[in-house]
Amino acid sequence: MVQKGMIILGIETSCDETAASLVSEEKKILSNVVSSQFKDHKPFGGVVPEIAARAHLDHIDFIVKKAFEEAQLTLDDIDGIAVAGGPGLIGGVIVGVMMAKGLALAKNLPFIPVNHLEAHALTLRLTNDISFPYLLLLISGGHCQFLIVEEVGTYIYLGGTLDDALGECLDKTARLLGYSSPGGPFLERLALKGNPEAFVFPRPLKGQEGCNFSFSGLKTAARKVIMENKGTTPSFQEDFSASFQEAIGEILKDRCQNAIEMALERKPDISTLAVSGGVAANRYFYECLTFCARNYEMTAVSPPLHLCTDNGAMIAWAGIERLKKNYVGSLSFAPRPRWPLEDLKLGKGD
Ligand code: KG4
Ligand code: ZN
Repeated sequence: MVQKGMIILGIETSCDETAASLVSEEKKILSNVVSSQFKDHKPFGGVVPEIAARAHLDHIDFIVKKAFEEAQLTLDDIDGIAVAGGPGLIGGVIVGVMMAKGLALAKNLPFIPVNHLEAHALTLRLTNDISFPYLLLLISGGHCQFLIVEEVGTYIYLGGTLDDALGECLDKTARLLGYSSPGGPFLERLALKGNPEAFVFPRPLKGQEGCNFSFSGLKTAARKVIMENKGTTPSFQEDFSASFQEAIGEILKDRCQNAIEMALERKPDISTLAVSGGVAANRYFYECLTFCARNYEMTAVSPPLHLCTDNGAMIAWAGIERLKKNYVGSLSFAPRPRWPLEDLKLGKGD
């Protein structure tokens, strides 16, 4: 008889997406249901934690049920339940964790709390055939950091943002132009038609040692340009976006070059640059990073667009990687608003 690989349910509720997915050990995404709260938060210009928590509570039952229906499976067919246990907006994380604990308890299944950042870090092993160790640039709405992914549960922090995350900088800037969050995709679309030389922006930390980022100065410069030039020419928004993205692309290339050198010094066998998190969906930034990787004969990889942003499949896959190593959590796990990846205790879910 052919041995069937395990199947895990992944639940994600740490920000503004209620998501559930069933994934198999053979890297098959059997279902992947994502419900965005985009419309709930739109009137407020950003994610409101209390609204997010209530919306997760309203939708979670339906989303989990739908994930099973789409996969044509039941709770009796799965081998464990993984959930984003943090970091994130605590009200939402609590909703997902309670749901996962309840199901695990009722069906006597392993309960696997997953660090949301670890899930972004490991998604590349679900979508691409890459092996450890690899260099990861995690760029999302709340995080911006370079890490060496050494093994499941073992991450070496190389550098990260000293102030804002890149996604946050994009979202806040897009809001000044009148676009609601997430603003990154709007800027990317506008930039396609703009002149990247129309405006000059600073490139904070460019040319300096290490691979930290700083985006607050760039954000302030962008605000100034918008205030001074808004509505002056019909193509202002396009030209602004193209110039703004060009500055960020240059920053990414400069920081990435240093990160690659730092990573190779520690682990000379690294040959992959993985780019993950919502901002990795930006094709221009990804091209800049690919260019940089090629200079070091490294391959750049990023998940397909729908797996760059938050989803349940990445949680389920991280659950599979953890369960394979027997890194299971206990039902006393406490949801975590903060949970730095480099603090992950190897082998322990809580
Ligand atoms: O990973 P994610 O879905 O949520 C967090 O964990 O933060 O990332 C969301 C971020 C937002 O800041 C959004 O503007 C950005 O990803 N984003 C993009 C694009 N698509 C999403 N940024 C630039 N270009 C895009 N195409
Ligand atoms: Zn995320």
